[in-house]
Amino acid sequence: MNESVQLKIAVLVVAAGSGERLGHGVPKARVPLGGEPMLVHSLRGILAAGVAHQIAVAVPTGDEALRAIVESLTVEAAGEDSPQITVVDGGSTRAESVAAALAVVDADSTSVLIHDAARPLTPAEVYHRVVKSLAGGALAVVPALAVVDTVKTVTQAPAGSPGVELVSGTPARSQLRAIQTPQGFDLATLRQAHSHAAGLSAEESAAITDDAMLVEAMGVPVYVVHGSAHSLKITTPTDLLLAEAMLQGPLAPRWVEG
Ligand code: C5P
Repeated sequence: MNESVQLKIAVLVVAAGSGERLGHGVPKARVPLGGEPMLVHSLRGILAAGVAHQIAVAVPTGDEALRAIVESLTVEAAGEDSPQITVVDGGSTRAESVAAALAVVDADSTSVLIHDAARPLTPAEVYHRVVKSLAGGALAVVPALAVVDTVKTVTQAPAGSPGVELVSGTPARSQLRAIQTPQGFDLATLRQAHSHAAGLSAEESAAITDDAMLVEAMGVPVYVVHGSAHSLKITTPTDLLLAEAMLQGPLAPRWVEG
């Protein structure tokens, strides 16, 4: 695609989460989807998008099985224009895993896309929308979907109350978006944002649920492009069922971009 001619893009894949909520007893990136580890789908999606000159994957420290999975995919994808793929040890929070992958990004890269390995079915179109926005001058861009549920904020209810929490507010749904990945950044802007995060406590680091929030805190505008229902984050067994259906079940032919 034309946009990647002007930009030199490194794609960071964070795959170092434990995936406890899936209950498979192995890190989430290794959980099978359509008979193959989830990370394989994520990496194939990135390769198919054709926007990366480099891919850095953060895996759980010491996870030789995941390293081997990435290495065999590197062999499978090897070709003249294929991106260089590097594996790094992730950290105990997502932000630390991103920082570990960011540390190996080539100095001559202009931009970085950060993708959750837990979103294995992200279509190429979403990568292309994010890259187009970066090529158009955005320093930060996130893919998003409109929220269908009414979302409320809550506080803990006092002991002895007839419920566990109390509603404290209802933001206007028309202004809410569910944010996905890949999130795209100008490399220098992202490095600056992560250098601010480096000094945070473990608790503060754990509260960084995406990279855009670090850039927002610097006052940099974060642009939004359309995400995809295919880009769901696999967190619970129900998500896994849905992803299997998207891949091969009766839903697959009817599943439309949106
Ligand atoms: O659990 P959470 O929703 O934050 O995970 C989002 C992504 O971040 C997943 O792909 C997961 O593998 C990754 N992650 C990571 N290192 C951690 C925690 C999460 O790479 N310590």
